[in-house]
Amino acid sequence: TAELVPQAPEDALFGLARAYRADEDPNKVDLGIGAYRDDSAKPWVLPVVKKADEILRNDPELNHEYAPIAGIASFTSKAAELILGGPDSPAIKEKRVTSMQTISGTGAVHLGALFLAKFFPGTKKVYLSNPTWANHNQIFSNVSLPIAQYPYFSKETKGLDFEGMKAAIHGAPDRSIILLHACAHNPTGVDPTLEQWKEIAAAMRAKDHFPFFDCAYQGFASGDLMKDNAAVRYFVEQGFELVIAQSFAKNFGLYGERAGCFHVVTGPAPDAQATISRIASQLAILQRSEISNPPLYGARIASTVLNDPKLFAEWEENLRTMSGRIISMRTALRSKLEELGTPGSWNHITDQIGMFSFTGLTEAQVMKLREDAHVYMTKNGRISMAGLNTRNVEYFAKAVDKVVRE
Ligand code: LMR
Repeated sequence: TAELVPQAPEDALFGLARAYRADEDPNKVDLGIGAYRDDSAKPWVLPVVKKADEILRNDPELNHEYAPIAGIASFTSKAAELILGGPDSPAIKEKRVTSMQTISGTGAVHLGALFLAKFFPGTKKVYLSNPTWANHNQIFSNVSLPIAQYPYFSKETKGLDFEGMKAAIHGAPDRSIILLHACAHNPTGVDPTLEQWKEIAAAMRAKDHFPFFDCAYQGFASGDLMKDNAAVRYFVEQGFELVIAQSFAKNFGLYGERAGCFHVVTGPAPDAQATISRIASQLAILQRSEISNPPLYGARIASTVLNDPKLFAEWEENLRTMSGRIISMRTALRSKLEELGTPGSWNHITDQIGMFSFTGLTEAQVMKLREDAHVYMTKNGRISMAGLNTRNVEYFAKAVDKVVRE
């Protein structure tokens, strides 16, 4: 009965956002949720999204009918090209990809988890990086997939624990599922180099592991769409069978519109097309029972841009605006801390990439920053770089300096 339902804790990230909103201090700084802000700390509607919206609003043919179960085909096909590197990707040319539009990246990870829970042979153990996006743990647990961790972040270097990661990949039972962040790792901002990706691929191949890529920041990390999908492209070139969860929340600024995609790529084989069509049929059943069919608006916006070369070029420009501002904030924060002579080294602020920086601040320091300086960041010391701007970066650096010295 109802009394037996225990109280669950509030979601840490959304709880943080609520606490920030309730804070009335004029100097408060929001470095919590990973959402882009402009230099005035305001959400930014991408100019290209405004244009696409205008085009859609003036389309007399547009209606509110159901989308097909797999979503809008003009969207999912371009989404696949985007992550796989264009129509010349071997997987696309050989028709070894199937794509389902999802409720953003979370929905894509969930659909993938559900699919693997049902069809992946063997023990179905999923290895997540330590640390990873907090939601990964509960998405996989909710479909009863057992979770394990691989080392990822080195506290000493504040960079990649590459040896630890490789040893864990090597030590995992054959044919484990390994979740990999395609670029701009959340929460650390630390990515393997291409050379390291090649070694990771070789280690995974040796153990017949299954790659599950989560890609939430393509184009947002470096400003270059083809650079940010290099790991995925490499694995596909190597003939891996893999899945990809793809979000358009960050790179289109379509957070609340929930535009995303789930892709399955099978390996090159004579019967690959027959395999992919069976997989598509099963995904359709799962999708129908979960959400029936995906929401239209965000996917229509993205599709409009992805299918129009001129708008696409404008989108790339908008991506460079976002990634460029974040990179300049990394430089500013590091140089302010170095100017202040803040104890410790701060090169990791500029070495890390994407939306986040894993500062190395302890939970006690994070809590002190919240109490004393009204700075809101997650307890693991992650900051959303997009929350910094030319008006608050010095304030933040001084607050960090103080707390580190205490
Ligand atoms: C984040 O990690 O801040 C974002 O990916 C938002 C979310 O849904 O957790």
